[in-house]
Amino acid sequence: MNATSTRRRVVVGVGGGIAAYKACGVIRHFTESGHDVRVIPTRAALNFVGQATFEALSGNPATPEVFDDVPDVPHVRVGQGADLVVIAPATADLMARAATGRADDLLTATLLTARCPVLFAPAMHTEMWEHPATRANVATLRAHGSIVMTPASGRLTGTDTGPGRLPEPDEIGLLGDLLLERPDALPRDLEGVRILITAGGTREPLDPVRYLGNRSSGKQGFALARAAVQRGASVTLIAGSVSGVSVPAGVEIAPVVTAAEMEQEVTRRAAVADVVIMAAAVADFRPVVRAESKIKKNGADPDPIVLTTNPDILHGLVTARAAGDLTDETVIVGFAAETGDADGGVLDHGRIKLVRKGCDLLVVNAVGDGRAFGTDDNTGWLLTATGTETALPMGSKTLMASRILDAVSEVRRDRR
Ligand code: C5P
Repeated sequence: MNATSTRRRVVVGVGGGIAAYKACGVIRHFTESGHDVRVIPTRAALNFVGQATFEALSGNPATPEVFDDVPDVPHVRVGQGADLVVIAPATADLMARAATGRADDLLTATLLTARCPVLFAPAMHTEMWEHPATRANVATLRAHGSIVMTPASGRLTGTDTGPGRLPEPDEIGLLGDLLLERPDALPRDLEGVRILITAGGTREPLDPVRYLGNRSSGKQGFALARAAVQRGASVTLIAGSVSGVSVPAGVEIAPVVTAAEMEQEVTRRAAVADVVIMAAAVADFRPVVRAESKIKKNGADPDPIVLTTNPDILHGLVTARAAGDLTDETVIVGFAAETGDADGGVLDHGRIKLVRKGCDLLVVNAVGDGRAFGTDDNTGWLLTATGTETALPMGSKTLMASRILDAVSEVRRDRR
């Protein structure tokens, strides 16, 4: 269990689809976080995974029926007591029943009594996902306040491929964690907004096998993509070197290696973005010479590495906007990873950087001593060009992402 979590009551509903076996990974995610997990399968789900598996994994009864344990009134109590309901997989039939308010099994009855966040992770064939009836049911569930994830694209049952795959259990778990930390973290306020996000570190080659790199994991940039997609945005993620990240469903990924490649991708795509978030740790310098073949040991000390300065992509975006190459409305967000030194603390350096970069928002992180790089949690400050400074409390990187997106939304509202 991480520093920010306490034991909560999580209901995992399982619909009757082939992806029901992946619900076991979702259950594990929440039990391993120390939560009290109650699994409610539909009757159809038990055709795919046995009740004993769900009971063993959760340590609780896992019946689909309202008429088991009647003295406990489970059809009311389980929903009333829940802090989070996650449905994985959410089949077309289950979402149709939930959208129309049916209560013909324990899971749908629970959905009617739950007052906590409800997260649907759909899985079905592409035709079913794209059918107007399913689209309408998804819209109804969202209008009722539920979060319906975008399914992943890829291999479905048999040889079919397309949108409709269950999002990765890790992704479902991370969004569930976010809703436990902040139930209103995912409003649908970025519908249709095009967001370009950079993430991870760049690698600047010395020769074909060696490079200068940094310790960025990409987790904060991926968390921004994860939260932005669920808020309705259309997200492109330009990803440098990353580690320990899962890819959010519905996000377009453009992989890059060097700062120069990242600059090329950002420049090409920024003109059609409403928001650009530079979360990547871009190398400030690169070796002047990139050896064609591996630099050999020859008994003598190697030549010193001579470095040259990389272009500042973030500053370039601000300049391009001022020159009219981007629209005035484009929101530009920068990050500042600071350690503090004799000239000032982390926040002092952040304030100076905001002015120097000229972006609309700057997220300031304290780094070093195991903070921020590679961790799952983050904390810092959010500075705006209009002079506001907000402390971002310690929490998951997805929580931090949700607060950054709130600020992006606010800047967009103010500009209109
Ligand atoms: O100057 P510093 O590297 O601390 O600035 C960090 C911010 O600037 C981050 O948003 C980073 O993505 C961006 N940056 C950039 N191009 C560089 C260096 C940093 O866009 N060459």
